[in-house]
Amino acid sequence: MEKLVIEGGVPLKGEVVVSGAKNAVLPILAATLLTDEPCIIKGAPFLRDTNTMLKILRSLGKECAFHHGAIAVESTGEHSFVADYKLVSTMRASFCVLGPLIAKLKKAKVSLPGGCVIGVRPVDLHLKGVKHLGVDIDINGGYVFAKAKHLRGAQIYLGGEFGSSVLATDNVMMTAVLAKGKTIIESAACEPEVTDLAEFLIKMGAKIKGHGTPTIEIEGVKELHGAEHKIIPDRIEAGTLIIASLITRGNITLKNVHIGHQGALLNKLQEIGAIIKKDGDRLNVTAKRKLEPVNITTLPYPGFPTDMQAQMMSLMAVTPGISIITEKIYQDRFMHVAELNRMGARIQREGPHAIIEGVKSLSGAAVMASDLRASASLVLAGLVAKGKSAVSRIYHLERGYENFDEKLRKLGARVWREKE
Ligand code: EPZ
Repeated sequence: MEKLVIEGGVPLKGEVVVSGAKNAVLPILAATLLTDEPCIIKGAPFLRDTNTMLKILRSLGKECAFHHGAIAVESTGEHSFVADYKLVSTMRASFCVLGPLIAKLKKAKVSLPGGCVIGVRPVDLHLKGVKHLGVDIDINGGYVFAKAKHLRGAQIYLGGEFGSSVLATDNVMMTAVLAKGKTIIESAACEPEVTDLAEFLIKMGAKIKGHGTPTIEIEGVKELHGAEHKIIPDRIEAGTLIIASLITRGNITLKNVHIGHQGALLNKLQEIGAIIKKDGDRLNVTAKRKLEPVNITTLPYPGFPTDMQAQMMSLMAVTPGISIITEKIYQDRFMHVAELNRMGARIQREGPHAIIEGVKSLSGAAVMASDLRASASLVLAGLVAKGKSAVSRIYHLERGYENFDEKLRKLGARVWREKE
């Protein structure tokens, strides 16, 4: 295993290109199961999670090749309907092969995804949704067994106690596109990654309206054909790099940014004292001399993204004053608090709230990554801490950030890899 060693104190400067969105490429790769024709996915990020999804597709009868950011998916002619525990348990997003398998093969055996450090991660909304479409579900031995004689459209309310569900919306949409008749999904997730999936499905011949709003309408079709699609930029990687510029008092210009996807984050950062200059798909970020504390509550899109919560906490940890972060999506998503406090942060957890008292400086330390976004928050803290930090278990980071340490080095960061 490797760790990232970071020597803090360098203001990051220069240009960086944002990669394609992890949370768009994963369901879009799953959607290639809906056709036997070839698909080309461009602008795909080369990540651990992308590779895991390619392994799952291969196990289901696809041939996949990754060349210079473009993934070619073809059929081998074989079809399996079993997504096994070994692969699904390493990546929750693999559960979104359920919908396409049911739609294409009328049956599926998919391992229940384990929970993870940020929460229990139930799939009740996924199962509720596909049941409405005529699917029989049985859960046995840690697997979901699904079968359907005929899929028929339905009106489905998909909201849960924590609001809408991204992957449940994806799974239901990918089942409904081949169901007979009309499906209306109410309280659908509005995340840009759901919209990107819908755009890919439409290119495959699906009839979808309302994607990106809480009500999605789908008119089932007989079959779907192959398609080519370019993945949207990763709004969470972009947000992480924006905070890297602010926390180091640097001057970074991001390229390949979909600024319309950054509303809630940019709104908050301008409140804090960020100076954001927009120019097409480029974004320049610098900080006013003094940053202000702020209160944040995470919400489904277009609210403040839970996937930016940990990174925001690192910035608030070194912003004088009291900031409060309330996590409304995953109430256990605070594994980074203890590690940041080891670096000298003053953060107190009260249930779904984290109360952050900004300190003058953090001190470099050996810290441990626990999940994808927590690892990003520790790297950000290391960039500004006095002295050296070592972030271990960086395979968490590699799941969702393409060549992140290389991108930071190009911006002037003193960061390198060492064997653990
Ligand atoms: C997606 O996960 C993202 N992952 C997550 O990003 C992101 O944090 C999350 O959406 C919320 O935005 C991918 O897109 C691959 P949810 P997903 O279903 O779809 C509850 C990252 O860091 N819920 O929208 O699995 C759930 O417990 C990852 O890139 C149910 O109660 O999340 C949570 O509290 C982490 N029942 C809330 O809904 C269900 O059946 C939102 O979860 C499903 C979810």
